Amino acid sequence: MKEINLTTKISVYLLDECTEAEKKLIERAKQATKNAYARYSNFKVGAALLLENGEIITGNNQENAAYPSGLCAERTAVFFANANYPDRKIVALAVAACSNGKFTKEVITPCGACRQVLLEVEARYKTPMKILMYSEEGIYVVDSIKDLLPLSFGDAMLTPRVSPDTISH
Ligand code: THU
Repeated sequence: MKEINLTTKISVYLLDECTEAEKKLIERAKQATKNAYARYSNFKVGAALLLENGEIITGNNQENAAYPSGLCAERTAVFFANANYPDRKIVALAVAACSNGKFTKEVITPCGACRQVLLEVEARYKTPMKILMYSEEGIYVVDSIKDLLPLSFGDAMLTPRVSPDTISH
């Protein structure tokens, strides 16, 4: 029997320890919570994406009476960016959440479905995306979505490993 141990490095920063660019991105994520449509959960999430040209795109969660029809903040922001600026790399993402009118004390981390979408974005632009996960008490930072999604399923899995003409039917 063999064992595989996976480890993840997460840097934990206080807001004061962040760069000015990071502070700005976090601030935009916090502001974006204000326009969330979260009438069912009352959990308002904001996401801010930094594009390679310095532009910031924001999104927030959009809920629906048919619950699964709603969408998380991260995917709202990513799909807007991809739909409108398909040629611009996304280099960083900040996410913040507000519950009962207060920013959370625990870090907000992207859900599983968002992690899968973020993985596709990194593959599409061949660029790792720094992810800043905000809380009032500290900010978790990882350098790539791969840190949050080990053993992920990605495009490489769909590439045949054997040449098709070696397969007999
Ligand atoms: N939500 C997000 O927008 N992003 C996350 O990272 C986690 C969860 C939303 C989905 C739903 O509208 C609400 O938060 C409660 O789950």
